[in-house]
Amino acid sequence: MKKRIILIAGGVIAVGTVLLTGADKAGSDGPQFTAEGRLMRPQNYREWIYLSSGLGMTYGPLERPGEPNFDNVFVNPSAYKAFLQSGRWPDKTVFVLEVRASQSKGSINRGGHFQGDVIGIETHVKDEKRFPRKWAFFGFRQGSDTSEPPAAETSNCYTCHEPNGAVDTTFVQFYPTLIPVAKEKSTMK
Ligand code: HEC
Repeated sequence: MKKRIILIAGGVIAVGTVLLTGADKAGSDGPQFTAEGRLMRPQNYREWIYLSSGLGMTYGPLERPGEPNFDNVFVNPSAYKAFLQSGRWPDKTVFVLEVRASQSKGSINRGGHFQGDVIGIETHVKDEKRFPRKWAFFGFRQGSDTSEPPAAETSNCYTCHEPNGAVDTTFVQFYPTLIPVAKEKSTMK
């Protein structure tokens, strides 16, 4: 009898632990901030959802005239799943724009372009309570785990993204797998 009670208690604890860690994981890909309001670098963004790559589409401080960069766009998995359901970005959405140099001479390549070193990463983050405009932009210096201060609301990040982004200040019109979702949910500008 005693043995059976211990077994049942053990089972309850095991199921509880699994449920708790599962719940913890679901929200763990949101933005993390320092006490000074700097964004912490999303360490595993390369394991997030890949949306697209632009070539020669870098605007702002990482732009290099005459040398087109690649931009690789990633979004956190929990925001992506919510977008598939609603065509909208939920609170705590994090985008990473990874800017890489483009190269054309190497190995067997003749006329094509392939990706080189990371030049920098920029982020676009939705946190409705923290930011007056709901979204903020943060850049990171090479090798730094904490971001620069958020871009000013008068910066060109806002003046380009707010009027031109097709869904809620983001450039969904350039993310081919998201276009049909936004069209179906009628959330595209
Ligand atoms: C002239 C317009 C323009 C300006 C200025 C601009 N961007 Fe963007 N941004 C784009 C376009 C177009 C994309 C689509 C992805 C690409 O580059 O391939 C994009 C995509 C992004 C993304 C991916 C998520 C999204 O919103 O679609 C991030 C992050 C981002 N930009 C950050 C920034 C930051 C930070 C600044 C300011 C330092 C900035 N951008 C300034 C046009 C702009």
